[in-house]
Amino acid sequence: MKKTIILLTFFLLSLGLRAGEGMWLPLLLQQLNEKEMRAMGMRITAEDIYSINHSSLKDAIVLFGGGCTGEIVSNQGLLLTNHHCGYGNIQRHSSLEHDYLTDGFWAQSLAEELPNPGLSVTFLVRMEDVTAAALKNVTSRMSETQRDSAISANNKLIVDQAIKGTHYKASVRPFFAGNQYYLLVTETFSDIRLVGAPPSNIGKFGGDTDNWMWPRHTGDFSVFRIYANKNNNPADYSKDNIPYTPKKYLNISLKGVSEGDFTFVYGYPGTTQEYLPAAAVDMVANHKNPIAIGLRQQRLDIIDQAMEQDRLVRIQYSAKAAGIANFWKKMIGESRGIKRLDAVDKKQAFEQEFSQWAAADPYREAAYGKLLPAYNSIYSDFTPKNDAYTYLTEGPLSIEIIRYAYSFNKLAQQSSQKTVSDSAVNALAKQLLAGVDGYFKNYDKNVDRKIFAAIMNTYCEKASPDYMPAIFTEMKAGYKADYQKWADAVFSKTLFASAETTKAFLEKYSRKDAKKILNDPAFQLAAATYAYLQQNLSKDIARFYDVTDSLQRIYMKAQMEFLPKKLFYPDANSTLRVAYGQVKGYEPADAVEYNWFSTLDGIMQKENPDIYDYVVDPRLKELYRTKNYGPYGDRDGTMHVTFIATNHTTGGNSGSPVLDADGNLVGINFDRCWEGTMSDLMYDPDQCRNISLDIRYCLFVIDKVAGAKRLVEEMNLVN
Ligand code: ARG
Ligand code: GLU
Repeated sequence: MKKTIILLTFFLLSLGLRAGEGMWLPLLLQQLNEKEMRAMGMRITAEDIYSINHSSLKDAIVLFGGGCTGEIVSNQGLLLTNHHCGYGNIQRHSSLEHDYLTDGFWAQSLAEELPNPGLSVTFLVRMEDVTAAALKNVTSRMSETQRDSAISANNKLIVDQAIKGTHYKASVRPFFAGNQYYLLVTETFSDIRLVGAPPSNIGKFGGDTDNWMWPRHTGDFSVFRIYANKNNNPADYSKDNIPYTPKKYLNISLKGVSEGDFTFVYGYPGTTQEYLPAAAVDMVANHKNPIAIGLRQQRLDIIDQAMEQDRLVRIQYSAKAAGIANFWKKMIGESRGIKRLDAVDKKQAFEQEFSQWAAADPYREAAYGKLLPAYNSIYSDFTPKNDAYTYLTEGPLSIEIIRYAYSFNKLAQQSSQKTVSDSAVNALAKQLLAGVDGYFKNYDKNVDRKIFAAIMNTYCEKASPDYMPAIFTEMKAGYKADYQKWADAVFSKTLFASAETTKAFLEKYSRKDAKKILNDPAFQLAAATYAYLQQNLSKDIARFYDVTDSLQRIYMKAQMEFLPKKLFYPDANSTLRVAYGQVKGYEPADAVEYNWFSTLDGIMQKENPDIYDYVVDPRLKELYRTKNYGPYGDRDGTMHVTFIATNHTTGGNSGSPVLDADGNLVGINFDRCWEGTMSDLMYDPDQCRNISLDIRYCLFVIDKVAGAKRLVEEMNLVN
């Protein structure tokens, strides 16, 4: 009975209303989505969002750094993204004297905008379906390896052709698990300067406690600017570069949104896996996540305690802690969401229906009959191995000293190779020497030693001995399971726990010193672990992905045949997408109802001067007291801070513009609500909400709190 009901709702959802689910390809909006978007209230056209021939909203969107989104908001290349996306760069400019993380940073003029080596932004110039060309000469009889090399060769031709005579880059990427291929032509700018960032008590208000949660009050934005050379083309940093003139920038609406309003999110979602079999979802939610959650919890407890006690440790470890905590909490929410949604049961019920459908026709039976049994057998074989892999990567290999020690591997190897010259060895040592200060700027050996003892304890006691590198069992026996003693011994002997010893070693380095690396206790743990991975688990993992990649391609195609009326969207793969939905609250639990927006009143309610994450900025307090909101306050008399909607988003959508029915900027996406974080595996219209910063709060902070009026004046505000 339960299965029938589950299946029924599944079918209704899959055939009819999508209610927010989906990350759509911009170039297919006209064909697939425009009608529905207009019915939901959109007043612009698909062509306004993505156009082959004219400039369109797409030209104001960038992939920011490695994994966020940003949007252009002025004709001088001014760019908005999240505070947590700019965090690493804000931190790199920070020290105890100029603590921009804590105090915020606002350049008073172009000349004060700070360069960020290594940071780039990428525009999508165009995309194109190249499936036929990519799959040319590919046959179903090919092995996966043959198939891959045929496709790579085809793609190289497509890419070369696409970028000939330009400074663009291009790539061909698989969609729908390799059933379709798209060419993406891109343009990358690498002189990106920091313009402004609010203090952490605004930009990270609520910290990791509020992260992934609703109600939320984080002013999660930062401001950058794209610089170009005199011809408005990409160029490496130079003081002669000038602000970039974009093809398009976003207008900013001061109107705000209301419940039920149409919104869309335009950005770069990283990864989703919506079409996996039940066994895969079970492995993620019930194996991988719990193991990683436990190990991360231990690291976080130690780091958090040290940060509470020491300001320097807070600067050194805040970005690291945020990274560890972010996925830790995401995984907790995801596993709970999968359970609450009965996602594994739902997928199993779906698989039963699918199998019956496949069995009802001899052609389908031949093509798809063995799919699900094959999946089930490979997952039951692989799950314990994946557990072991998760234990290693989230355990020993997450310890800083072990990772750092291993960065000397190449030096040790080259030193013992006769074919490598002395000067090459010395050059490598010099290069490593140059990185020492940068690494130790953010390192505290007492924190790391505590983590070492705690993680080794859990790893050695809990991970399966069947897949454990021998060195761990030997060490555990040698130290009689006294993990603190083991940690103390490693840290007192290793060369790599302080800048002084590391530098002294590298400054006088000659190739015979390689044995000191090879004998280093931290290095030995790293080397043994990586060797084990390479000789054992890597092969299993490679084989697993080989098999499941090809199964998934077939299963994807089969699901599309099984549900011919359903509109499918491709899983996120860090390419530009549009998600659309409605501004809407939700009911996270029995008897609880959540409103769709938060206000400055909530910040005052959360205020706690004793807790770092809940300190309220005094300037903010004063503006609140005098209700000095200028044009940014809502018509209800309050200052709106954030709002939620049913847009389907994921990691990578951070910083994405949230646009209204007229295509004006109303918010900056920065998170999802915890109850809905399983949407990477299965979307639930009742529980999945994206969280956006209300753009009016962003402007209010820039103008009223920071007094950086010159920036607001650069933007185009509409009423
Ligand atoms: N959860 C958001 C995302 O996935 C924000 C992360 C940064 N904030 C934090 N408190 N760690 O990126
Ligand atoms: N904060 C996430 C990011 O950095 C977005 C939240 C999500 O995963 O939806 O991309």
